[in-house]
Amino acid sequence: MTSTTVRLAQKPDLDGPLPDVDMATQLAGADFINPILTASGCAAAGRELDQFFDVTTIGGVVTKSVMLHPRSGRPTPRMAETPSGMLNSIGLQGPGIDAFIDKDLAWLRERGATTVVSIAGGSVEEYAKVASKLRLVPGINAVEVNISCPNVESRGEVFACDPVAAAEVISAVRRSTASSIPVLAKLSPDVTDIVEVARAVVEAGANGLSVINTALGMVIDTDTMRPVLGGLTGGLSGPAIRPIAVRCVWQIHAAMPEVPILGMGGIRTGGDALQFILAGASAVSVGTAIFADPMAPARIRDELIRALHARGFGAVRDAVGYAHRAPDAESAPEEPNLVAFEDGEPELESDL
Ligand SMILES: Cc1cc2nc3c(=O)[nH]c(=O)nc-3n(C[C@H](O)[C@H](O)[C@H](O)COP(=O)(O)O)c2cc1C
Repeated sequence: MTSTTVRLAQKPDLDGPLPDVDMATQLAGADFINPILTASGCAAAGRELDQFFDVTTIGGVVTKSVMLHPRSGRPTPRMAETPSGMLNSIGLQGPGIDAFIDKDLAWLRERGATTVVSIAGGSVEEYAKVASKLRLVPGINAVEVNISCPNVESRGEVFACDPVAAAEVISAVRRSTASSIPVLAKLSPDVTDIVEVARAVVEAGANGLSVINTALGMVIDTDTMRPVLGGLTGGLSGPAIRPIAVRCVWQIHAAMPEVPILGMGGIRTGGDALQFILAGASAVSVGTAIFADPMAPARIRDELIRALHARGFGAVRDAVGYAHRAPDAESAPEEPNLVAFEDGEPELESDL
């Protein structure tokens, strides 16, 4: 924390010009012009989003997890609505690493977008091979290692549920990746002790952590009396998982404050993004919100600027982990004031 004077939120001016807040942030040495990135699997490789806003004006694009070979994903139906979220069982559908490098990465590079490439694999060797393919490719700012996808045929493939397996993958990817490129390990909330997994992957060479992937869930159709999803289970995302995600970021930052965190899970507003940053994230990813509002990353960026300014922050980095400070009487919050939003979902009045 610098000498910034932080105060309880004033009502932000939603229509005026954007206040001057230094939004630059870093994740393990990778620079981002602001802390709002897309979440893997929710914006493909950014090309479609670029029709809605200039993707070079957000912190970065995190691409859909790519594997060694083309893959068709899991059986349909692959989406189900849930209260305050959605369940997906897309699986790791994709073109394979070679086509991804030729088409998607080439486009991102030409466009000048800050790019985090998400990789996945079915074995330690496959992860290492995918990482090696990226070694000499220019235009990659960081590699995110998806060890936590719940949409695999075998739960045994969810490396992030086992600290030893998770560490093996990260160690292999770290060895196969250029030393100048940070490696982020993406963790699953479906574990008893996320700090234990976080420690294991950091010791294995992860330079930062992406927190969290979807949580394993299921919906049953009461007419057919069968699971709705073709793959039976799926990954729960959206606001339903936000408190779990914030808790995970908080626990990891409390245990390892020096480890950079990319936070995600149900971020829909600048106020949501601020929660993650206050909990200890240096940047955040926006996923499910994009499906309802393709402008969401750009809107959330602007809302976050106003939210930081309204609280007296001159730079986003001063807010990282700010909620961990000792409570002081002066800024002790009163009972939150619940107000009903249009869709009937109660939100904290100080959401912005
Ligand atoms: C349709 C869909 C596809 C996803 N695909 C991936 C993926 O390929 N790799 C990955 O690491 N995470 C994937 N995720 C998880 C998101 O990146 C993110 O971690 C999670 O959805 C929580 O953020 P959100 O609530 O903002 O969506 C996917 C999520 C959704 C909804």
